[in-house]
Amino acid sequence: MHVLSVDQFDTKYLDDLFSKTQEIENTLLDKSKTEELAKKHLAKQVCTLFYEPSTRTRLSFETAALKLGMGVVSTENAAGFSSAAKGETLEDTINVLNNYRLSAIVIRHTDTGAAEKAASVSKVPIINAGDGAGEHPTQALLDAYTIKKHFGRLDNLKIVMGGDLKYGRTVRSLCRLLAFYPGNHVSFVSIPELQMGDDIKELLTSSGTTFDETDDVTKVFPDSNVVYWTRLQKERLENPGSIDKGGFTLTKDNISLLPQDSIILHPLPRVDEISPEVDSDPRAKYFEQAGNGLLIRMAILDIIASA
Ligand code: NCD
Repeated sequence: MHVLSVDQFDTKYLDDLFSKTQEIENTLLDKSKTEELAKKHLAKQVCTLFYEPSTRTRLSFETAALKLGMGVVSTENAAGFSSAAKGETLEDTINVLNNYRLSAIVIRHTDTGAAEKAASVSKVPIINAGDGAGEHPTQALLDAYTIKKHFGRLDNLKIVMGGDLKYGRTVRSLCRLLAFYPGNHVSFVSIPELQMGDDIKELLTSSGTTFDETDDVTKVFPDSNVVYWTRLQKERLENPGSIDKGGFTLTKDNISLLPQDSIILHPLPRVDEISPEVDSDPRAKYFEQAGNGLLIRMAILDIIASA
């Protein structure tokens, strides 16, 4: 199984995946079971092939593999240090890796569609760890797992997504996932230059998921369950300095408008769009969310390596 887009899943698959993730979470609380799990996939290896910077995604995938007993081979700067720098095509790189008897190749790339391109020549499962401004399916899975853990459901939620919605792949993937469930409403908070793409808006409309767009957090915060904040994707902008980010920073003041039972998520890294003073608020769940990345990626790798 390749993992390329959220669209390949359905609610039944996600239910099973989240149960499995919960089991893994419980297993890791028990030392002897954790040791047992670390023998499950001995003599198997995963390759992490990253053409773009990463902290959480690469290190959580690698930790996940190691906790399942798998070995890891990695290139953290494939653009600079792999043969891509000499002009090798992605397809050739994947063809070569296909001969190393790997269990999976986790790829992050600057180009939208790169994971799909890799999968088109690969017998080894390809996992999309972010393709340009396209998708980041495992991030959406861990976001959804975090939301489900808190609310016990993924339907009938009011989700506010803010920041760079045009180039941020995490919000794009999360919208796709939320569209599987009935009754969700998404409020997009951004400026005209960074609005959510029409493709995602059309998908929401065709699935019956309602949405609105605003540049004013005070209008949508009082009635929200989840606030999902994102940074400016400056590496995808020609002139990031020209963007006026005023009013898009979460502070103690503006989060005071949120209901007590809401949660604040962010895929991280944050730059200046969440003030550190927010971190101590019980609704701030972004570090816990990052931790869930390890669990979801263990579940995904376990499924793939067991196939
Ligand atoms: C995100 C990404 O790479 O898309 N990071 C992550 O994987 N947690 C978000 C970002 O870089 O802004």
